[in-house]
Amino acid sequence: MSSSDGRHYLTTPIYYASGEPHIGHAYTTFLADTLARYHRQTGAPVHFLTGTDEHGQKIQEEAGRRGVEPQELCDAMAERFQSAWSDLDISYDRFIRTTEKEHQGVVQAFVQRLMDRGQIYEAEYEGWYSVHEERFFTEKELGPDRTDPIAGRPVERIREKNYFFRMSAFQEDLVRHIEENPEWIYPEKRRNEVLGFLQNPLSDLSISRPRARLAWGIPLPFDEEHVTYVWVDALINYLTASGAIRPEGPPGEQGFEDPGGSWWPADLHIIGKDILTTHAVYWPTLLMGVGLPLPRRILAHGWWVVGETKMSKSLGNVVDPLDLREQFGTDAVRWFLLREMPTGEDASYTPERFLTRYEELANVLGNLASRVSSMVVRYREGRLGPGVEGRGLDTEIDLCLQRVSESMVRLRVHEALGAAMELAREANGFVETTEPWGLAKREGAEDELDETLGTLLRTLLVLSALLLPAMPGKMEELAETLGLPRVPTLDQATDLPLSELQVRKGTALFPRSDLLP
Ligand code: MSP
Repeated sequence: MSSSDGRHYLTTPIYYASGEPHIGHAYTTFLADTLARYHRQTGAPVHFLTGTDEHGQKIQEEAGRRGVEPQELCDAMAERFQSAWSDLDISYDRFIRTTEKEHQGVVQAFVQRLMDRGQIYEAEYEGWYSVHEERFFTEKELGPDRTDPIAGRPVERIREKNYFFRMSAFQEDLVRHIEENPEWIYPEKRRNEVLGFLQNPLSDLSISRPRARLAWGIPLPFDEEHVTYVWVDALINYLTASGAIRPEGPPGEQGFEDPGGSWWPADLHIIGKDILTTHAVYWPTLLMGVGLPLPRRILAHGWWVVGETKMSKSLGNVVDPLDLREQFGTDAVRWFLLREMPTGEDASYTPERFLTRYEELANVLGNLASRVSSMVVRYREGRLGPGVEGRGLDTEIDLCLQRVSESMVRLRVHEALGAAMELAREANGFVETTEPWGLAKREGAEDELDETLGTLLRTLLVLSALLLPAMPGKMEELAETLGLPRVPTLDQATDLPLSELQVRKGTALFPRSDLLP
């Protein structure tokens, strides 16, 4: 579902500044990056947001453990994420940090707005609180030994004054919204989960924490003794980065009535299934509370496990995408994660699976690129004559283009990549059946050889355009081998006169794994 004006505002969760980036964070971010690059390729204006979540108890405690100020920890971790994303070729337009002044202003304006509209009240609260999840759980939600149902960590009984958002008042509207917009939460399984959750009465949401207990947060504009609950603070990042809210403006001109001219509403929030309730229940009701439009779509993807085991710091099995990159290169990591996990489902990392996917790249795509470029160099000195069309695989190409675009619209990136790889396989099959080396020896077969090589070059052009969003670095390399300054657009790939290419024999795109360092 795209916005009516063709613009795309895509977001990842903002990652806690208390832990290092791992393949789970990388997956979400690759998914967003691939979609952002795909839309940019079509010429659509794109705003791709990621960042770090820097307030709350988790951060305060981690800073305490390390013996540094929370801000120092956040500065260091924001840099870690930025540098990881730069190594992994993430093309974000905005990296938000929740300790930014602009964001603090937007959070305060947002909360004040809720207050002004009568959506906040004060009450004594008592409940089971998980420091790890930074939220309260109901008795019913707790695990058998009074642990939180998500991470299985201990919960504490807490009693304090809190400010509450009248979330329960929006339950009906939210249910109606989900029912009327079947595509709003993808995949369907997650949508049903949210609808199931909403079958029970929704409680109101505590949106504050007493400063005495938690100092590291954004003070409430109407009570300095309380800071904003970190999840409310964090969710509002999507709004801050949209430019919709102008905290300094007088009421009425702050952007709440009319977010026009900004990126709001977001076209797609990409999240993991662990944070579905916050995004599909808290966030939309908060937006209803201030009178802003809801995000257009939420994609909740599955969970990466290692072998059969949950990935966790305490188990010591966390997979670092930068280590994999060191050995196999950025695009192989992107390929593995994007290709291996069906959008919405869980998937498992093992070194063997990684290698199998890597070999698919090397043996199918890499092999195609290398044999085609070397044949064009050997038989035609790198350039085909004018008039060669290279139409031998047009039916396969058309079908592939259609499958890729359908899959991308349906957010099934793994399928789009599978369809592109299938085309590369077909092209390898075409080499086997046409045997260009035989044509090169046969007298009178010049035209046939031209057309055959042309068909293969055409296919490589199309593949470079199709795979650019997922593997930008390697596709640039491929385009360079074909003598192009940059990866062609899809239209150029299908129409470009092949005589414009000056092919050279490139180095292997994906070296054989036994030759890797
Ligand atoms: N700070 C909150 C999000 C606030 S958004 C307004 C948070 N941060 S987090 O650092 O814990 O990152 C959570 C996200 O990282 C998940 O939603 C998911 O996108 C990604 N992943 C973290 N571990 C993951 C796996 N093991 N597998 C897949 N993705 C997971 O929650």
